[in-house]
Amino acid sequence: MTKRVGILTSGGDCPGLNAAIRGFGRAAIGAFGMDVLGFRDGFRGLVHDRCDRLEGSELSGILTDGGTILGTSRDKPHKMPVDGKTRDMTDAAVETYHRHHLDCLVCLGGGGTQKNALRLAKAGLSVVTLPKTIDNDVWGTDVTFGFDTSVQIATEAIDRLHSTATSHNRIIVVEVMGHRAGWLALGGGLAGGADVILIPEIPYDEERVAEAIAARSRAGKHFSIVAVAEGSMSRAQKLEVDELVAAKERATSKDERRGFSNQLRAFHQHHTDHTLELTQSLEERTGQESRLTILGHLLRGGTPSALDRVLSTRLGTAAAELVRDDRAGVMVAVRGEDVEAVPLEKVAGRKKLVPVDHPWVRSARLVGTSFGD
Ligand code: F6P
Repeated sequence: MTKRVGILTSGGDCPGLNAAIRGFGRAAIGAFGMDVLGFRDGFRGLVHDRCDRLEGSELSGILTDGGTILGTSRDKPHKMPVDGKTRDMTDAAVETYHRHHLDCLVCLGGGGTQKNALRLAKAGLSVVTLPKTIDNDVWGTDVTFGFDTSVQIATEAIDRLHSTATSHNRIIVVEVMGHRAGWLALGGGLAGGADVILIPEIPYDEERVAEAIAARSRAGKHFSIVAVAEGSMSRAQKLEVDELVAAKERATSKDERRGFSNQLRAFHQHHTDHTLELTQSLEERTGQESRLTILGHLLRGGTPSALDRVLSTRLGTAAAELVRDDRAGVMVAVRGEDVEAVPLEKVAGRKKLVPVDHPWVRSARLVGTSFGD
């Protein structure tokens, strides 16, 4: 019997999503004779049953396109905004799945998507996921698609900032996305030759950052590039966050826990204020003029790199093979040259952070990059 499969993209978009949809769709439809339904705007489309049958024509000419032809959202089935209220719409998602007689749902997304997919698996759906995000922080896979392109964009930005920083003898602080992980700032900073790289995994001391910049000045280099991951924290801020996390764990009521969660969320939402404060503080401490550049969503735009196109195609086609073989409840992960099916139970709720002794960190230190620690 012909297999019927749904596919959706969820969470922040990234380069390579269309290449993965194409890889999955072409293998599923062309090679294995399945029917594929594309759900619109992530889990929202599943809950509200908004989908279209994908034909060969939709999958043509999209390999090089950024974004996602399916649209995306951060909505979760169990916390869906409906008529101004947040509602648990898991049952509606399950109903849509059965209404279309689906054999499997393929979800392309980052950490949040893995958690949502596991919830749906527990509600009885057959689910296969793919790891996408520019943050590269999905547990259980060597790498996520989208990351390589973003590192390239960050690198090009840092390259361009070098010439203007040099001309004006300035400090340029460049804030890079990455959520709570430092992969993107580390990769872009290393490739772009940033003089200081600040990542969440290594809390920094502002004075140490200023010292590193002053030492460069004394050596005749009157400009500095500071690559800052958006989730970076000073040592004082890290203590503040650790205290909030501990208080949340100690909390005895739901309300109290929610209060601490809100404080933590507010802290992280203000990352740009933190980076601006750092920029001003570096100017005051070093006496050198400082400027801030926030790369933001530029890092998620445009055509995927060759590496991401290959990776997305590999993962997409591997997902189609898993569906053909009736495998479910797994994420298609990258392991060296190969791909591997990792149980969602293991992936969901975990984050892959930068180990503080990661080879990229060691190399950066050996070429004289400061981590402000
Ligand atoms: O997860 C990808 C990411 O770009 C993070 O790096 C960033 O923190 C977040 O998404 C931004 O989300 P939004 O696009 O919803 O502002």
